[in-house]
Amino acid sequence: MRLVANAVCSGARNGQGGGRTKWSAARQIVLLTFALPFLLSAAKPEAANDASKGEQYFRACAACHSLTPDHNMTGPSLAGLFGRKAGTLASFPRYSPALQASGVIWNEQTLDAWLAGPTRFIPDSRMPFEGIEQPAIRSDLIAYLKKATAANDATSGPRVGMPGDPDLKNLQAENKVLSITYCPDTYRVTTADGQTQGFWERNLRFKTDSSPIGPDKGAPALFGAGMQGDRASIIFSSPEEISAFVKRQC
Ligand code: HEC
Repeated sequence: MRLVANAVCSGARNGQGGGRTKWSAARQIVLLTFALPFLLSAAKPEAANDASKGEQYFRACAACHSLTPDHNMTGPSLAGLFGRKAGTLASFPRYSPALQASGVIWNEQTLDAWLAGPTRFIPDSRMPFEGIEQPAIRSDLIAYLKKATAANDATSGPRVGMPGDPDLKNLQAENKVLSITYCPDTYRVTTADGQTQGFWERNLRFKTDSSPIGPDKGAPALFGAGMQGDRASIIFSSPEEISAFVKRQC
């Protein structure tokens, strides 16, 4: 499951999700490789419409979808989904034209067709998800969605954010960035625990999260990424903060 979250997560948080750019075939293969074995292994031939099993299956969606109203990630928030017209959540700016023009209203039947094969149901839509073959898994998931998307409050469903995401508002000293210098091809990042780490410029990613769960203004967050410890990401509260923070200094 962690693999699902991480594989999806890096796409979601790197701004490669949705928007005008089509998801690359490579990324779809990554998603399939990680997401499908999870879904299949979770399949058990038991009674249909089991919302508690559906909650487990929803983990394959949670990397891209929250159940908190207007908390959008790679995909739109699913709060209040049933009865909603596809592609119309006003706070989500990255719908594909195909989804917006589909005229579909979300209910058990349309969701079943969507989850079985998103692009088969709505050609040219852009949800990077291959689909779920097993009807029993789809019906459990839909039973869960029906309950969880109607609850319409932040306490329903999994916590907002990626599974395993750190709390960007209450950073550990080692994650809290105090300063960043750049010279000649190296970013040196000093954190609140007094450590300074150097990164080759192509190994450091700058990201933003302007949502309520993003970092505080002036307090960007450093997170390691990659096995070797040579790569990392820094999440800022806004794009303006990035160049203001980085000082060219040898
Ligand atoms: C890798 C990210 C990703 C995953 C995983 C994912 N989705 Fe999506 N989803 C999206 C994106 C992006 C869109 C918008 C697609 C478009 O505009 O064509 C979307 C759209 C939707 C919509 C339409 C919402 C609307 O407002 O019209 C539904 C419903 C949905 N997803 C349900 C699910 C469910 C259930 C799962 C899990 C089985 C799931 N998605 C998995 C990214 C994802």
